[in-house]
Amino acid sequence: MSQSTSSPVQAAPIALITGGSRGLGRNAALHLAQKGFDVIITYRSKAEEAQAVVQQIEAQGRRAAALALDVGQASSFPAFVESLKALLASHWQRERFDHLVNNAGVGLHLPLAQTSEAQFDELMNIHLKGPFFLTQALVPLINDGGSILNTSSGLTRFAVPGYGAYATMKGGVEVLSRYLAKELGARGIRVNTLAPGAIETDFNGGALRSNPDLNRFVSSVTALGRAGLPDDIGPVVASLLSNDSRWITAQRIEVSGGMFV
Ligand SMILES: NC(=O)c1ccc[n+]([C@@H]2O[C@H](COP(=O)([O-])OP(=O)(O)OC[C@H]3O[C@@H](n4cnc5c(N)ncnc54)[C@H](OP(=O)(O)O)[C@@H]3O)[C@@H](O)[C@H]2O)c1
Repeated sequence: MSQSTSSPVQAAPIALITGGSRGLGRNAALHLAQKGFDVIITYRSKAEEAQAVVQQIEAQGRRAAALALDVGQASSFPAFVESLKALLASHWQRERFDHLVNNAGVGLHLPLAQTSEAQFDELMNIHLKGPFFLTQALVPLINDGGSILNTSSGLTRFAVPGYGAYATMKGGVEVLSRYLAKELGARGIRVNTLAPGAIETDFNGGALRSNPDLNRFVSSVTALGRAGLPDDIGPVVASLLSNDSRWITAQRIEVSGGMFV
């Protein structure tokens, strides 16, 4: 009896990115697809933008899908897990995925003295409680050997007045990443923190793009002499999720062009 000598075709790894409809999440999704990943993105309100990203990824020959999710509503996570399981079964004939990128988020620029309890709670729900409980809900669906990438900010290392509440949540995310890395290491799951510097996206109302004074200020405090662009971030995300980064875990990787060094 003849035996086939060809090796079995490896299924593409699947990455799930929260907040993939715009900005850094969108850019990461497109670069992951270029690197051979299938991608599931989530969006909160911009369904059309999310579908456009899905189509761009499919045009690259990879599989993609978009699901609605508000990361600030932890009570919705059990229903989200059920939607995700149904999607994995129908779209990929799989029960699990490989990589989780906790990226979704909003900014707040306000002095601590003027920050209300409601604003604090909103930031906490989106940036800290959301990633904590979403990760808790999704870890059983992540394949051994996969990875988790949590999004922080350069603002945890340097202080810019007005970002105290926001950066406080991001600091918590960095601690969460290290603990997750320790607890999930036995399953071969790597957990890292990505800390972007100031990047021109819709973040904070797109202020870095539309305000020339702010853009000049950021450029002046950045070793590489300009504000960041989404294309400075997406390839790093793709690299950190790939097998090239298999020995990197429990690390905070700052991608800021050298802000405030
Ligand atoms: N840009 C920067 O300078 C910078 C620097 C450091 C860190 N970061 C961090 O990087 C991440 C992405 O920021 P970005 O610059 O890409 O911002 P962005 O362009 O404003 O995009 C934000 C994304 O997050 C989603 N989102 C917002 N609130 C959400 C919620 N409650 N639930 C679910 N999804 C939500 C949005 O979905 P919809 O499109 O549906 O609204 C969108 O996809 C954030 O965690 C941010 O804190 C950004």
